[in-house]
Amino acid sequence: MNLTDTYTLITGASGGIGKEFAIQLSAMGHKLILVGRKLASLEAVRAQLTGAQAAASLCLPCDLSVPGAAGRLHAECKARALDVGFLVNNAGIGLFGPAAGMAESEVEAMVNLNVSSLSNLCSLFGADMQKLGTGSILNVGSFAGLNATPYFASYAATKSYVLAFSLALRAELKSSGVHVTCLLPGYVRTAFDGNAGIRNPAYLKFSESNSLSAAQVAAVGIRAAARNKAWTVAGARNKFAAALFSLLPRTVPPSIMKSFLDRLVHKPSSTGASE
Ligand SMILES: NC(=O)c1ccc[n+]([C@@H]2O[C@H](COP(=O)([O-])OP(=O)(O)OC[C@H]3O[C@@H](n4cnc5c(N)ncnc54)[C@H](OP(=O)(O)O)[C@@H]3O)[C@@H](O)[C@H]2O)c1
Repeated sequence: MNLTDTYTLITGASGGIGKEFAIQLSAMGHKLILVGRKLASLEAVRAQLTGAQAAASLCLPCDLSVPGAAGRLHAECKARALDVGFLVNNAGIGLFGPAAGMAESEVEAMVNLNVSSLSNLCSLFGADMQKLGTGSILNVGSFAGLNATPYFASYAATKSYVLAFSLALRAELKSSGVHVTCLLPGYVRTAFDGNAGIRNPAYLKFSESNSLSAAQVAAVGIRAAARNKAWTVAGARNKFAAALFSLLPRTVPPSIMKSFLDRLVHKPSSTGASE
């Protein structure tokens, strides 16, 4: 990858794992395009970049949950002659709670962001990379996408899509010299749980005590992409759990998760609150 000529575009770069992708890739010499909704947060990340090309990095605010956003972002890059050699599709949100009765507008916005924009960005920038015969795409899926996950039903399904889509795209682009990798994090210490509407203290405590840092997870993703791995689960414990779950019939992991989460969220907490 020629780090001087091309940009690395990171979606969801204003916080969490995306911010760590930005900091680490900048330190490795990448010239960045930082994408997220809030310009001020993106600029705050840009100010923390340290690499040789930090000054050439720029922010493009964009709400990727809006239909057509991926096309507009790609068109803006084209209009400004910003060639993207590495696409990091990291932006994503979760929705926690029973699937029956979930607000239509929230599900729609999540699917637009996690599924439609990710696919369209891969399609648009992937075609550019294919023409050049080089490039790399890193899509952020989730451990939750490996199995049907009660209370994260639609979120986990979007992440199953991300893995399946990434593997298919990888096969299609293999002969063109474009690499595609899918990163599957488990729990990560970011704003994700809060943004997904999770308020239950027992859940938050469990998530926190089983989480990796955003910096650790970003490093796993960068290493996997550099090695052109098809997919990787972040963290030894998550890898073990993924291997174990893969041995079970497809209906079993969701039943296990349902009983586990039911017990967890209804466990009395020190504050006496439950979901
Ligand atoms: N944290 C976890 O436990 C965990 C586990 C597995 C997978 N993941 C995946 O990891 C990825 C990053 O999540 P995170 O944990 O870093 O979450 P986070 O801290 O909430 O960060 C999410 C990022 O996405 C951006 N974003 C949200 N909505 C957007 C929109 N409509 N358009 C453009 N950008 C948007 C946010 O920026 P703005 O608010 O400025 O738009 C922010 O930069 C997601 O794909 C998530 O599904 C996370």
